[in-house]
Amino acid sequence: MTQTVLLTLPLADHLLDASFGDVRWLQFQGDAHLSNPQWCSALKEADAVLCTLTTPFDREVFAQAPRLKVLSSVSVGVDHIDLETATSRGVAVGHTPGVLVDSTADLAIGLMLASCRRLVEGDRLIRSGHWGEGWTTGFFLGTDLSGATVGLVGLGAIGQAVARRLQGFGVRVLGWNRTPRSIPGVETVDLDTLLTTADIVSLHTALVPETNHLMSSGRLDAMKPGAILINTARGGLVDEAALIAALQSGRLRAGLDVYAHEPLPTDSPLLTSDAVVMAPHIGSATAATRAAMLQRALQNLTMGLAGDALPFCANPAVYAQ
Ligand code: DGY
Repeated sequence: MTQTVLLTLPLADHLLDASFGDVRWLQFQGDAHLSNPQWCSALKEADAVLCTLTTPFDREVFAQAPRLKVLSSVSVGVDHIDLETATSRGVAVGHTPGVLVDSTADLAIGLMLASCRRLVEGDRLIRSGHWGEGWTTGFFLGTDLSGATVGLVGLGAIGQAVARRLQGFGVRVLGWNRTPRSIPGVETVDLDTLLTTADIVSLHTALVPETNHLMSSGRLDAMKPGAILINTARGGLVDEAALIAALQSGRLRAGLDVYAHEPLPTDSPLLTSDAVVMAPHIGSATAATRAAMLQRALQNLTMGLAGDALPFCANPAVYAQ
């Protein structure tokens, strides 16, 4: 029987081959919002969906998709998907763990260096024609990554990859994980100790209800004056308004790849702060990594359409019922 696969991202024709079986591809472009009748009618027809992290699947969206059996996301994070509802509805959710670890860890180190040494601010200074002073001993001072203490919040695959890279900088690495983990080269500490000791705090934990605003106003206050917050995980981990206040007061600095709302609103106070270095959610944005993510997501889709268990399943409980 022909199955309908709804695509919310453009895919090259050669990828939509016979290995998927008897499939009708339904390409959706536009506003994936329930107020859009085209999105609702596409959801009604879909046996499977291939999506990205910009398409939310909450309880209301699932209610509009009565045929849905497979939801394959081209992302490792699945905070845009209500996994509990998916599981109770019998929808297998696929994601792409493993393949974006190194790219994301590289970017975290890049943001650390850029924040410590004020690289983007320096670039702006030169381009604006305001590099008037030349070389003087007190000019444009930053801080060293070498010899710093870095606290990793989350010791999964990406946190561990960051820890490995930091060994080369002679850094003292502290780590905290929701379920305690012992990682070579990382001193396991409680979260309060990490926040009050680290010169740089880097977030590598998933966004789930328990970690929403993990970096609350109180926890940001607990960080050392002059410390740097790095976030390559999810914007929802941080109370962004409290972070902005800490940046504006000069108490903290930050290197961010992710935000509470993406794209970042054009009136965000972050845009006028020199205390923050920003990237536009590009942790996994290398050609090789994106190809590997897509391959993994298509593998999940093929297996799901064939009625088999997804190889990279975010809600394995769906197979227990
Ligand atoms: C993911 O896959 O969850 C990443 O945020 C994409 O960069």
